[in-house]
Amino acid sequence: MSIREFKLERFMAEHEFRASYVLGASDGETLSVQELLSLDPGSENDLLRLRLGYAEPAGSASLREAIAGLYSGVSPDEVITFNGASEGIMAFMSTALQPDDHVIVQFPAYQSLYEVTRSRGCDVTLWWMDEEKGWSPDLEVLQELAGPATKAIVINSPHNPTGYQFPESSFSALIEFAEERDITIFSDEVYRLLEHRADDRLPAMVDVPGAHVSLGDVSKAYGLAGLRIGWVATRDRDLLGRLARYKDYSTICNSAPGEFFAGIALRHRGKIVARNLDIIRRNVGLLDDFFTTWSSLFSWVRPRGGTTAFPRLRAGEGAFALCTDLLDSAGILLVPGTVFEHDDAHIRFGYGRQDMPEALERLDGYLRTRFG
Ligand SMILES: Cc1ncc(COP(=O)(O)O)c(C=O)c1O
Repeated sequence: MSIREFKLERFMAEHEFRASYVLGASDGETLSVQELLSLDPGSENDLLRLRLGYAEPAGSASLREAIAGLYSGVSPDEVITFNGASEGIMAFMSTALQPDDHVIVQFPAYQSLYEVTRSRGCDVTLWWMDEEKGWSPDLEVLQELAGPATKAIVINSPHNPTGYQFPESSFSALIEFAEERDITIFSDEVYRLLEHRADDRLPAMVDVPGAHVSLGDVSKAYGLAGLRIGWVATRDRDLLGRLARYKDYSTICNSAPGEFFAGIALRHRGKIVARNLDIIRRNVGLLDDFFTTWSSLFSWVRPRGGTTAFPRLRAGEGAFALCTDLLDSAGILLVPGTVFEHDDAHIRFGYGRQDMPEALERLDGYLRTRFG
């Protein structure tokens, strides 16, 4: 079955590396090799001795142990690494689901979460988030959408692009509902640990009783997207076997240097994540001021987690036209809602990066020239 173009990734591929200011990206601030190695004394010598043959297909034992340490009761054998969360999504959708299975996907969404699923022949229903209710998706609506053929519910929290985080009560109600109906929850947790308030952190889905699935990576909270390391954690042994057999075809194993660096990042996650959360909290404060100044042009739901927000454009010619002109005339990249197949009114702002204040100031200058 054919797969449609991944609009967000095509858009980023075309523009991200040419824009002077990237104000629409979703990753946290990155680290240099030197910065990463300096967190772990002695690691420089280990790097120089690293053998560059095939790595262990499921991921090195030390990396899987570090990943298992993110959860409460998960063993390293219940983790399998992938080349980014992206490959984990491909692997899950291709092996856990059968054509004609019904799958409900929280929407808007990172496109592969529903697109790969559709290309597998599944019957996909989008579970729309409600901007009027702080982007909360409605659980009563979910109950109406689910039927006897519903095999999986796909969620993402903290969420890209809205910054929504399920409150504890809705999260528990969602799990209870899935358990009653024997539905697997595939939980994209790549923005986990970036809850803006520590109290908002939810249990990882793999730590919830049942055969649910957590998807993670080092791209977002750690800012290490260039390593291409992601993983799936689940207690479902049969699924783990199927995922491993999929990876034998897709990439065999991860890059050995990628696994080495990811292991260091996970073992020193406290420092890396604290630094990124400091940047995020400062940047969200600047966005508060920005959207107050520009309240005639934008309305926004303040995000609760992650690195992105999805404000609404209240005037002008539409999000796509504004983003195109902004890029052409000021070199600033924002992501229009059309790229999320959502609408032409919303725009994704990314606030995970260190240089965001400068980009925001440039945006302010551009808007002053255009809208006074
Ligand atoms: C919600 C979500 N899931 C998965 C991914 C893929 O991440 P990666 O393949 O870099 O690990 C992204 C990237 O933007 C994302 O936003």
